[in-house]
Amino acid sequence: MTKTLDKHPLVQHKVSILRNKNTNNYIFRTIVKELSSLMVYEFTKDLELSIKEIQTPVSNYNAPFIDGSKLLIVPILRAGLGMVEGVQEMIPDACVGHIGLYRDEKTLQPVEFYSKLPDDADQKDAIIVDPMLATGGSAIAAIDHLQKRGIKNIKLVCLIGCPEGVHAIEQKFPELDLYVAVIDKKLNDKGYITPGLGDAGDRIFGT
Ligand code: PRP
Ligand code: URA
Repeated sequence: MTKTLDKHPLVQHKVSILRNKNTNNYIFRTIVKELSSLMVYEFTKDLELSIKEIQTPVSNYNAPFIDGSKLLIVPILRAGLGMVEGVQEMIPDACVGHIGLYRDEKTLQPVEFYSKLPDDADQKDAIIVDPMLATGGSAIAAIDHLQKRGIKNIKLVCLIGCPEGVHAIEQKFPELDLYVAVIDKKLNDKGYITPGLGDAGDRIFGT
């Protein structure tokens, strides 16, 4: 299932700031973080709740809580790092695993250079975060990697997608929940999302 938030005025407004080439690195990072927090609202809608008895100032109450420690946030390095804080602010108990992938500029194929996941990763539900879903190659490699580690429940959360990337994910993983803030028109001949926002990693880290 693919879910977008593109009807929401706040999302549209913040994405427009990201798109503007005159937005500086600090504002860019801030908006990536804020949009990531907004995405949490959407992708946590189906989380299980457990009931714990608490005391309010007035009475006893069987209160619903989520167990954030069952969640594993997995940023795809580098650009995915920009989304981690926004998600963690909403789910502070979630832990973070890392997958390092970069896209070869000529072939557009993902190259894996790093992986660090907790030993009990297979007991957790994973949320892969990456601002950009272009060809879908990096996200597919990350999902494959997590599935090989025994993780069954995986969600993919991106800020800007395009039809090519969304289609690639839907074809390869029809059961996976994909959340994309907005889906742009197309990829250009260099593999960049159009209109897009350019190179997300470069704009987050000022390189
Ligand atoms: C970007 C982006 C995704 C990937 C998307 O990373 O953050 O990981 O490209 O493209 P794809 O869908 O065609 O695979 P990049 O490889 O530029 O590395 P970076 O995060 O270090 O900038
Ligand atoms: N990666 C980016 O950072 N931007 C794009 O448009 C495509 C891939």
